[in-house]
Amino acid sequence: MKLAALTRAEAQVLLPTYDRQKVLFEKGRGVYLWDSRGHRYLDFLSGIGVNALGHGHPAIQVVLKRQASRLIHVSNLFFHPYQAELARRLTKISGLDRAFFCNSGTEAWEGALKLARAHARTLCTNGHKPKWRILALENSFHGRTFGSLATTGQAKYRDPFGPLLPGVSFLEFNDISDLKRQLDGSVCAVCVETIQGEGGIRPVSAEFLQAARKLTENSGALLILDEIQCGLGRTGRYFAYQHYGVQPDIVTVAKPLAAGLPLGAILTTNRVARAIHPGMHGSTFGGGPLACAVAVEFLRVLQPLLKHVEEIGNYFRAKLEWLKAKHGCVVEVRGMGLMLAMELNSADLAKAIVAEFLQRRILINRTNDTVLRFLPPYIIEKKHVDQVIRALDEVLASQIREIGKSRKRSKS
Ligand SMILES: Cc1ncc(COP(=O)(O)O)c(C=O)c1O
Repeated sequence: MKLAALTRAEAQVLLPTYDRQKVLFEKGRGVYLWDSRGHRYLDFLSGIGVNALGHGHPAIQVVLKRQASRLIHVSNLFFHPYQAELARRLTKISGLDRAFFCNSGTEAWEGALKLARAHARTLCTNGHKPKWRILALENSFHGRTFGSLATTGQAKYRDPFGPLLPGVSFLEFNDISDLKRQLDGSVCAVCVETIQGEGGIRPVSAEFLQAARKLTENSGALLILDEIQCGLGRTGRYFAYQHYGVQPDIVTVAKPLAAGLPLGAILTTNRVARAIHPGMHGSTFGGGPLACAVAVEFLRVLQPLLKHVEEIGNYFRAKLEWLKAKHGCVVEVRGMGLMLAMELNSADLAKAIVAEFLQRRILINRTNDTVLRFLPPYIIEKKHVDQVIRALDEVLASQIREIGKSRKRSKS
């Protein structure tokens, strides 16, 4: 089916949840995608942080084909060879003890919230009410299911669906005194995205995260980190929290874990895991043999790439800073490794740049209205960064000229 026919068909039979760009992709290889007319696009978005190894990575293809021909699904009623191996690798790189596998980011986050409530019950003696309140950060994003929505600090995502899970309060971003004020004896968990992704690529401050660790340790609440977008190598380390010298009680991961297959995970300590018993939580699909076999391979390929992510990320960031010095419309450059952003002084400008990039066949996106977000595959090279920087330089200059002209026209 061609793009026009597909657009019509989808408009009739799908829930209208997505406002898709008018491109029909048919093939991907490395850092490139090809559309139905054979045009090649440079992918600096990776399917929103999923295709960390690019498209059609040879090692992933081998494991995918081999495992697809052997066994795809058995359910969690039985053993298969890859869950323990994947959990062993994830616990080793995270410094945590145990894993639970699910199918998406939001599902991992829901499980983490359940774990926090269940853990609070284990601490409760003498018939006291268990700690139950959850503190989350303003401007955060944790997913689209009810618990995740309830802890997402952006009203536009929550408001159409209330009433939501009770007991959630929001903290001002990076505000330690607000945390001290709200972290009372009824709080079972403090939730932090180590780097806010949807919220505009905003790393939490070291002071805030370190204070959150100390204060939760003292109060008996858990520190839960959402590394669904920033984890698994995106910042040049396995986990973004490893830049901060802070160890969480629970961390959630998903996006790149199975190189494009749906797979999420909750990682936690033995102490917290004691709250869970057979039957309390589960998933039909989560941690199936196909996704887990691929994820084991993803982690194997990732290890030697981490240094490259750090180096190419520093190179990319330096070039973005150079653009900031040159163009007055750039407000700030933020991020770590290959999770980078350029905040502009106008939402219209950011929108126009993303559209112009699509015309030039480079994929990026806009988040938090004014922020250009870059989540390229970890395998990009300097020449790809240079291409994006050249395009940004030209497009920023020409868009500013256009905006100036249209202002003049509207004045005269
Ligand atoms: C930080 C963070 N948490 C949770 C989610 C939800 O993940 P999913 O869309 O896989 O449910 C996302 C998705 O963008 C995310 O960026």
